[in-house]
Amino acid sequence: MSPVPVIRPRRLRRTAALRRMVRETTLTPDDLIYPLFVTHGRDRQQPIGSMPGQFQWSVDRLPRLAEQIATLGIPAVILFGLPASKDAIGSENFAADGIVQQAIRAIKAAVPELVVITDVCMCEYTDHGHCGIVDEHGYVVNDATLDILGRVVVSHAAAGADIVAPSGMIDGAVAAIRAALDRAGAQQVAIMAYAAKFASSFYGPFREAADSPPRFGDRTQYQMDPANGREALRELALDAAEGADILMVKPALPYLDVLSQARQRCELPLAAYHVSGEYAMIKAAAANGWIDERNVVLESLTAIKRAGADLILTYYALDAARWLRS
Ligand code: PBG
Repeated sequence: MSPVPVIRPRRLRRTAALRRMVRETTLTPDDLIYPLFVTHGRDRQQPIGSMPGQFQWSVDRLPRLAEQIATLGIPAVILFGLPASKDAIGSENFAADGIVQQAIRAIKAAVPELVVITDVCMCEYTDHGHCGIVDEHGYVVNDATLDILGRVVVSHAAAGADIVAPSGMIDGAVAAIRAALDRAGAQQVAIMAYAAKFASSFYGPFREAADSPPRFGDRTQYQMDPANGREALRELALDAAEGADILMVKPALPYLDVLSQARQRCELPLAAYHVSGEYAMIKAAAANGWIDERNVVLESLTAIKRAGADLILTYYALDAARWLRS
Protein backbone atom coordinates (compact mmCIF):
# COMPACT_ATOMS: atom_id res chain seq x y z
CA MET A 1 0.00 0.00 0.00
CA SER A 2 1.35 3.48 -0.91
CA PRO A 3 2.03 5.81 2.05
CA VAL A 4 -0.58 8.49 2.82
CA PRO A 5 0.81 11.96 2.02
CA VAL A 6 1.30 14.22 5.02
CA ILE A 7 2.16 17.29 3.00
CA ARG A 8 -0.73 18.18 0.73
CA PRO A 9 -0.24 21.34 -1.41
CA ARG A 10 -3.77 20.81 -2.71
CA ARG A 11 -5.17 22.01 0.66
CA LEU A 12 -4.56 25.61 -0.39
CA ARG A 13 -6.05 25.06 -3.85
CA ARG A 14 -9.42 23.80 -2.60
CA THR A 15 -11.50 26.98 -2.93
CA ALA A 16 -11.27 30.18 -4.93
CA ALA A 17 -10.79 32.24 -1.76
CA LEU A 18 -7.89 30.06 -0.59
CA ARG A 19 -6.28 30.29 -4.01
CA ARG A 20 -6.68 34.04 -3.98
CA MET A 21 -4.97 34.26 -0.58
CA VAL A 22 -1.83 32.51 -1.71
CA ARG A 23 -1.60 33.91 -5.22
CA GLU A 24 1.93 35.23 -5.74
CA THR A 25 1.50 37.33 -8.85
CA THR A 26 -1.28 39.77 -9.62
CA LEU A 27 -1.57 41.37 -13.02
CA THR A 28 -3.07 44.88 -13.08
CA PRO A 29 -3.64 47.50 -15.81
CA ASP A 30 -0.82 49.49 -14.13
CA ASP A 31 1.61 46.93 -15.57
CA LEU A 32 0.61 47.52 -19.16
CA ILE A 33 1.99 49.70 -21.96
CA TYR A 34 0.00 49.91 -25.19
CA PRO A 35 1.92 50.21 -28.51
CA LEU A 36 0.37 52.58 -31.07
CA PHE A 37 1.12 53.00 -34.77
CA VAL A 38 0.64 56.54 -36.03
CA THR A 39 0.24 57.53 -39.67
CA HIS A 40 -0.32 60.67 -41.75
CA GLY A 41 -3.74 61.61 -43.11
CA ARG A 42 -7.07 62.38 -41.53
CA ASP A 43 -9.76 60.26 -39.94
CA ARG A 44 -7.83 57.05 -40.50
CA GLN A 45 -8.02 53.82 -38.55
CA GLN A 46 -6.26 51.50 -40.97
CA PRO A 47 -6.45 47.78 -39.99
CA ILE A 48 -3.12 45.93 -39.86
CA GLY A 49 -3.53 42.64 -41.71
CA SER A 50 -0.87 40.72 -39.79
CA MET A 51 -2.20 41.94 -36.42
CA PRO A 52 -6.00 41.59 -36.32
CA GLY A 53 -7.52 44.14 -33.96
CA GLN A 54 -4.59 46.58 -34.29
CA PHE A 55 -4.59 49.71 -36.45
CA GLN A 56 -2.55 52.53 -37.86
CA TRP A 57 -4.11 55.74 -36.49
CA SER A 58 -4.12 59.25 -37.88
CA VAL A 59 -3.23 61.96 -35.36
CA ASP A 60 -6.77 63.41 -35.24
CA ARG A 61 -8.04 60.05 -33.93
CA LEU A 62 -5.56 59.96 -31.04
CA PRO A 63 -7.28 62.20 -28.47
CA ARG A 64 -10.33 59.91 -28.25
CA LEU A 65 -8.20 56.80 -28.25
CA ALA A 66 -5.94 58.23 -25.53
CA GLU A 67 -9.01 58.89 -23.38
CA GLN A 68 -10.18 55.30 -23.81
CA ILE A 69 -6.75 53.97 -22.88
CA ALA A 70 -6.55 56.14 -19.77
CA THR A 71 -10.11 55.25 -18.76
CA LEU A 72 -9.13 51.59 -18.78
CA GLY A 73 -6.42 52.41 -16.24
CA ILE A 74 -3.52 51.84 -18.61
CA PRO A 75 -0.80 54.34 -17.63
CA ALA A 76 1.28 54.50 -20.82
CA VAL A 77 1.50 54.18 -24.58
CA ILE A 78 4.54 53.69 -26.80
CA LEU A 79 4.47 55.36 -30.21
CA PHE A 80 5.70 54.08 -33.57
CA GLY A 81 5.53 56.38 -36.58
CA LEU A 82 4.95 55.82 -40.28
CA PRO A 83 6.59 58.77 -42.04
CA ALA A 84 5.33 60.44 -45.21
CA SER A 85 8.59 59.64 -46.97
CA LYS A 86 11.82 57.75 -46.27
CA ASP A 87 15.44 58.59 -47.01
CA ALA A 88 18.95 57.36 -46.18
CA ILE A 89 19.10 59.01 -42.75
CA GLY A 90 15.39 59.00 -41.90
CA SER A 91 14.90 62.77 -41.76
CA GLU A 92 11.29 62.76 -40.59
CA ASN A 93 12.44 60.92 -37.47
CA PHE A 94 13.83 64.17 -36.02
CA ALA A 95 11.57 66.70 -37.76
CA ALA A 96 9.76 69.09 -35.41
CA ASP A 97 6.48 68.31 -37.22
CA GLY A 98 7.22 64.61 -37.83
CA ILE A 99 4.43 62.13 -37.35
CA VAL A 100 5.49 61.03 -33.86
CA GLN A 101 6.13 64.59 -32.74
CA GLN A 102 2.58 65.49 -33.83
CA ALA A 103 1.20 62.43 -32.08
CA ILE A 104 2.93 63.27 -28.80
CA ARG A 105 1.46 66.77 -28.82
CA ALA A 106 -2.03 65.52 -29.64
CA ILE A 107 -2.02 62.93 -26.86
CA LYS A 108 -0.51 65.25 -24.28
CA ALA A 109 -3.05 67.97 -25.12
CA ALA A 110 -5.94 65.52 -24.68
CA VAL A 111 -4.77 63.42 -21.72
CA PRO A 112 -1.76 65.06 -20.04
CA GLU A 113 -1.41 62.32 -17.41
CA LEU A 114 -1.05 59.51 -19.94
CA VAL A 115 2.65 58.63 -20.05
CA VAL A 116 3.96 58.95 -23.60
CA ILE A 117 6.90 56.73 -24.52
CA THR A 118 8.50 56.94 -27.94
CA ASP A 119 10.28 54.14 -29.73
CA VAL A 120 13.60 55.56 -30.91
CA CYS A 121 14.89 53.78 -33.97
CA MET A 122 15.62 54.48 -37.61
CA CYS A 123 14.17 51.47 -39.42
CA GLU A 124 10.69 52.94 -40.03
CA TYR A 125 12.22 56.14 -41.47
CA THR A 126 15.12 54.93 -43.62
CA ASP A 127 14.70 53.85 -47.24
CA HIS A 128 16.91 50.79 -46.58
CA GLY A 129 14.91 49.77 -43.49
CA HIS A 130 17.92 49.33 -41.20
CA CYS A 131 18.18 50.72 -37.68
CA GLY A 132 21.05 53.10 -38.40
CA ILE A 133 23.21 54.83 -41.00
CA VAL A 134 24.35 52.23 -43.53
CA ASP A 135 27.73 52.34 -45.30
CA GLU A 136 28.53 51.12 -48.84
CA HIS A 137 29.01 47.56 -47.55
CA GLY A 138 25.57 47.48 -45.92
CA TYR A 139 27.06 47.80 -42.45
CA VAL A 140 25.22 49.86 -39.84
CA VAL A 141 27.76 52.50 -38.78
CA ASN A 142 27.54 52.75 -35.02
CA ASP A 143 28.75 56.17 -33.97
CA ALA A 144 27.27 58.19 -36.84
CA THR A 145 23.93 56.61 -35.88
CA LEU A 146 24.31 57.89 -32.30
CA ASP A 147 24.29 61.49 -33.53
CA ILE A 148 20.98 60.95 -35.32
CA LEU A 149 19.43 59.22 -32.30
CA GLY A 150 20.42 62.24 -30.22
CA ARG A 151 18.53 64.53 -32.60
CA VAL A 152 15.50 62.22 -32.52
CA VAL A 153 15.19 62.17 -28.73
CA VAL A 154 15.63 65.92 -28.42
CA SER A 155 12.75 66.42 -30.89
CA HIS A 156 10.59 63.93 -28.96
CA ALA A 157 11.39 65.68 -25.68
CA ALA A 158 10.53 69.07 -27.21
CA ALA A 159 7.15 67.67 -28.27
CA GLY A 160 6.46 66.46 -24.72
CA ALA A 161 7.54 62.81 -24.50
CA ASP A 162 7.94 61.44 -20.97
CA ILE A 163 10.15 58.48 -21.82
CA VAL A 164 12.27 57.64 -24.86
CA ALA A 165 13.03 54.03 -25.75
CA PRO A 166 16.03 53.33 -27.98
CA SER A 167 15.34 50.04 -29.78
CA GLY A 168 18.13 49.72 -32.32
CA MET A 169 20.76 47.84 -30.27
CA ILE A 170 23.34 50.45 -31.25
CA ASP A 171 26.34 50.42 -28.88
CA GLY A 172 26.44 53.42 -26.57
CA ALA A 173 22.92 54.58 -27.48
CA VAL A 174 21.77 55.07 -23.89
CA ALA A 175 24.77 57.22 -22.94
CA ALA A 176 24.52 59.24 -26.16
CA ILE A 177 20.79 59.83 -25.69
CA ARG A 178 21.19 60.77 -22.03
CA ALA A 179 23.86 63.31 -22.97
CA ALA A 180 21.76 64.75 -25.81
CA LEU A 181 18.69 65.08 -23.59
CA ASP A 182 20.63 66.69 -20.77
CA ARG A 183 22.34 69.16 -23.13
CA ALA A 184 18.90 70.14 -24.38
CA GLY A 185 17.63 70.72 -20.84
CA ALA A 186 15.45 67.59 -20.88
CA GLN A 187 16.84 66.04 -17.69
CA GLN A 188 13.34 64.93 -16.69
CA VAL A 189 12.86 62.68 -19.71
CA ALA A 190 13.53 59.05 -18.76
CA ILE A 191 15.11 56.31 -20.86
CA MET A 192 13.59 52.86 -21.24
CA ALA A 193 16.32 50.87 -23.00
CA TYR A 194 15.55 47.95 -25.25
CA ALA A 195 18.61 46.47 -23.55
CA ALA A 196 18.38 42.79 -24.46
CA LYS A 197 16.69 42.78 -27.82
CA PHE A 198 17.09 39.60 -29.81
CA ALA A 199 17.19 39.24 -33.61
CA SER A 200 13.83 37.51 -33.49
CA SER A 201 11.54 36.22 -36.19
CA PHE A 202 8.66 37.03 -33.84
CA TYR A 203 8.85 40.66 -35.11
CA GLY A 204 7.45 39.67 -38.50
CA PRO A 205 3.92 41.08 -38.12
CA PHE A 206 5.27 44.36 -36.69
CA ARG A 207 7.34 44.97 -39.78
CA GLU A 208 4.16 45.02 -41.85
CA ALA A 209 2.48 47.27 -39.27
CA ALA A 210 5.36 49.76 -39.21
CA ASP A 211 6.49 49.21 -42.79
CA SER A 212 10.00 48.63 -41.49
CA PRO A 213 11.47 45.39 -42.91
CA PRO A 214 15.15 45.67 -43.89
CA ARG A 215 15.31 46.00 -47.70
CA PHE A 216 18.43 43.80 -47.72
CA GLY A 217 19.96 41.39 -45.21
CA ASP A 218 18.64 41.09 -41.69
CA ARG A 219 19.28 42.64 -38.27
CA THR A 220 21.77 40.09 -36.93
CA GLN A 221 24.72 42.54 -37.01
CA TYR A 222 23.06 44.63 -34.30
CA GLN A 223 20.28 42.64 -32.58
CA MET A 224 21.29 39.73 -30.37
CA ASP A 225 21.67 36.07 -31.24
CA PRO A 226 18.70 34.19 -29.69
CA ALA A 227 21.22 31.60 -28.49
CA ASN A 228 22.92 34.02 -26.09
CA GLY A 229 21.79 34.40 -22.47
CA ARG A 230 25.01 35.60 -20.83
CA GLU A 231 25.46 38.27 -23.47
CA ALA A 232 21.94 39.51 -22.70
CA LEU A 233 22.88 40.04 -19.05
CA ARG A 234 25.95 41.96 -20.16
CA GLU A 235 23.83 44.18 -22.43
CA LEU A 236 21.43 44.85 -19.55
CA ALA A 237 24.29 45.79 -17.23
CA LEU A 238 25.81 48.09 -19.85
CA ASP A 239 22.58 50.00 -20.39
CA ALA A 240 22.12 50.34 -16.64
CA ALA A 241 25.64 51.72 -16.35
CA GLU A 242 25.00 54.15 -19.21
CA GLY A 243 22.07 55.63 -17.32
CA ALA A 244 18.94 53.77 -18.40
CA ASP A 245 15.97 54.22 -16.06
CA ILE A 246 14.08 51.10 -17.18
CA LEU A 247 15.51 48.00 -18.87
CA MET A 248 13.66 45.89 -21.40
CA VAL A 249 13.91 42.29 -22.57
CA LYS A 250 12.37 41.51 -25.95
CA PRO A 251 10.58 39.30 -27.05
CA ALA A 252 8.89 38.08 -23.86
CA LEU A 253 7.67 34.48 -23.66
CA PRO A 254 10.59 32.77 -25.45
CA TYR A 255 13.04 34.73 -23.25
CA LEU A 256 11.61 34.32 -19.74
CA ASP A 257 14.91 32.82 -18.61
CA VAL A 258 16.66 36.07 -19.48
CA LEU A 259 13.97 38.08 -17.72
CA SER A 260 14.20 35.95 -14.62
CA GLN A 261 17.98 36.23 -14.42
CA ALA A 262 17.78 39.96 -15.08
CA ARG A 263 15.34 40.28 -12.17
CA GLN A 264 17.84 38.64 -9.84
CA ARG A 265 20.67 40.91 -10.93
CA CYS A 266 19.29 44.39 -11.41
CA GLU A 267 17.35 46.77 -9.25
CA LEU A 268 15.96 48.91 -12.08
CA PRO A 269 12.37 48.42 -13.20
CA LEU A 270 12.19 45.73 -15.88
CA ALA A 271 9.97 45.72 -18.92
CA ALA A 272 9.21 42.88 -21.31
CA TYR A 273 7.85 43.28 -24.83
CA HIS A 274 5.17 40.75 -25.74
CA VAL A 275 5.83 41.26 -29.44
CA SER A 276 3.77 41.19 -32.60
CA GLY A 277 4.44 37.54 -33.40
CA GLU A 278 3.40 36.47 -29.92
CA TYR A 279 0.18 38.48 -30.40
CA ALA A 280 -0.47 37.14 -33.90
CA MET A 281 -0.03 33.50 -32.85
CA ILE A 282 -2.63 33.81 -30.11
CA LYS A 283 -5.00 35.65 -32.48
CA ALA A 284 -4.65 32.99 -35.15
CA ALA A 285 -5.15 30.06 -32.80
CA ALA A 286 -8.11 31.76 -31.13
CA ALA A 287 -9.70 32.56 -34.50
CA ASN A 288 -9.57 28.85 -35.27
CA GLY A 289 -11.18 27.99 -31.97
CA TRP A 290 -8.08 26.11 -30.82
CA ILE A 291 -7.45 28.11 -27.66
CA ASP A 292 -9.42 30.37 -25.33
CA GLU A 293 -8.06 33.83 -26.17
CA ARG A 294 -8.84 35.54 -22.87
CA ASN A 295 -7.38 32.81 -20.69
CA VAL A 296 -4.29 32.35 -22.84
CA VAL A 297 -3.57 36.08 -22.84
CA LEU A 298 -4.02 36.50 -19.07
CA GLU A 299 -1.91 33.38 -18.44
CA SER A 300 0.83 34.66 -20.76
CA LEU A 301 0.95 38.13 -19.22
CA THR A 302 0.88 36.72 -15.68
CA ALA A 303 3.77 34.40 -16.58
CA ILE A 304 5.77 37.34 -17.93
CA LYS A 305 5.18 39.23 -14.70
CA ARG A 306 6.00 36.17 -12.56
CA ALA A 307 9.31 35.78 -14.41
CA GLY A 308 10.28 39.29 -13.35
CA ALA A 309 8.68 41.99 -15.49
CA ASP A 310 7.31 45.08 -13.78
CA LEU A 311 5.96 46.37 -17.07
CA ILE A 312 4.63 44.60 -20.15
CA LEU A 313 4.38 46.15 -23.58
CA THR A 314 1.53 44.32 -25.28
CA TYR A 315 -0.95 44.75 -28.12
CA TYR A 316 -3.39 43.02 -25.77
CA ALA A 317 -3.24 45.89 -23.26
CA LEU A 318 -6.78 47.15 -23.92
CA ASP A 319 -8.34 43.68 -23.90
CA ALA A 320 -6.37 42.63 -20.84
CA ALA A 321 -7.39 45.77 -18.93
CA ARG A 322 -11.04 45.06 -19.78
CA TRP A 323 -10.78 41.40 -18.82
CA LEU A 324 -9.07 42.26 -15.53
CA ARG A 325 -11.98 44.55 -14.65
CA SER A 326 -14.72 42.04 -15.36
C1 PBG B 1 12.22 48.91 -34.22
C2 PBG B 1 11.33 47.95 -33.47
C3 PBG B 1 10.89 46.66 -33.84
C4 PBG B 1 9.99 46.25 -32.85
C5 PBG B 1 9.95 47.27 -31.89
N1 PBG B 1 10.79 48.29 -32.29
C6 PBG B 1 11.12 45.86 -35.06
C7 PBG B 1 12.45 45.32 -35.35
O1 PBG B 1 13.39 45.41 -34.57
O2 PBG B 1 12.58 44.84 -36.48
C8 PBG B 1 9.23 44.96 -32.84
C9 PBG B 1 7.98 44.96 -32.04
C10 PBG B 1 7.07 43.81 -32.30
O3 PBG B 1 7.38 42.87 -33.05
O4 PBG B 1 5.97 43.84 -31.73
N2 PBG B 1 13.54 48.51 -34.32
